[in-house]
Amino acid sequence: MPSASARYQTVDWYDLPRYYDIVNEQGTKEEASFLEALHELHGTKRKSPRRVLEPACGTGRLMREFARRGWDVEGTDLNEHMVAYTKRRQERANLPGTVALGDMAHVTSAKRFDLAHVLVSTWHYLLDEKSARSNLESVAACLRKGGLYVIGLHLCDYTIEQTGRERWVGVRGGTKVVWNINSWPADVKRRTERLRSRLVIEEKGETKRYETEWDFRTYDARQLRRLLRSVPALELVACYDFMYDIEESRELDDSQSDIVLVLKKR
Ligand SMILES: C[S@@+](CC[C@H](N)C(=O)[O-])C[C@H]1O[C@@H](n2cnc3c(N)ncnc32)[C@H](O)[C@@H]1O
Repeated sequence: MPSASARYQTVDWYDLPRYYDIVNEQGTKEEASFLEALHELHGTKRKSPRRVLEPACGTGRLMREFARRGWDVEGTDLNEHMVAYTKRRQERANLPGTVALGDMAHVTSAKRFDLAHVLVSTWHYLLDEKSARSNLESVAACLRKGGLYVIGLHLCDYTIEQTGRERWVGVRGGTKVVWNINSWPADVKRRTERLRSRLVIEEKGETKRYETEWDFRTYDARQLRRLLRSVPALELVACYDFMYDIEESRELDDSQSDIVLVLKKR
């Protein structure tokens, strides 16, 4: 008998952009509205076109939403399949925007932006302090004065043996994607946590199973504050949680895991 895990094919699940997009599409409009509200409240008002930059843009779901709202959009991603998918979707929808291969540890652009964002814990892929600082500094260099950099991440409680589990389901046409994510307690010394994504896809009468494991860098509030202090080009102006409620700000402390940082270019 094969073990349960043997039925899962090991892949980099970002090589399968359509499945990522199906399961992550939900919530895109709310996230874009929240980012627009942050720009309204904390950003610097300018005449259009407003410009938004998304390092690690994935399938470009937020780029398409911002382009529909009249923003000038630019994105980069490390994965060529993601970049190709984003390009294809933009062209098919006849939406403007630029997407290219790029590492979010070293963000560059010829343009200057009003807003940059990295949501859904993607920023944890920056696995050491040097690349995280380089991300902050290089994004800051791409912002106009008063522009915002918004980062959504989760804080780690090192005092408990924390495991996590999430399950998301997305359906598009004849394809159903079930996405299970597990996380394991942090390695306190290395400041990493292990995550596993399992996809179960039902399509054309077939069931496919894919598995991906990776590490995220961990932060508690103190570690995050120390890193932010080392980048004087950005000022922390507000924090929120993943409810994306503009009326409900929070502190940068360890009271709760999910946090959205709003950083402003000095
Ligand atoms: C969870 S997805 C987020 C995609 C998109 N930002 C969104 O909100 O849907 C993470 C993305 O980060 C990309 N990625 C991971 N490390 C990266 C890096 N160092 N530079 C650029 N992209 C990276 C992956 O290829 C993947 O497309």
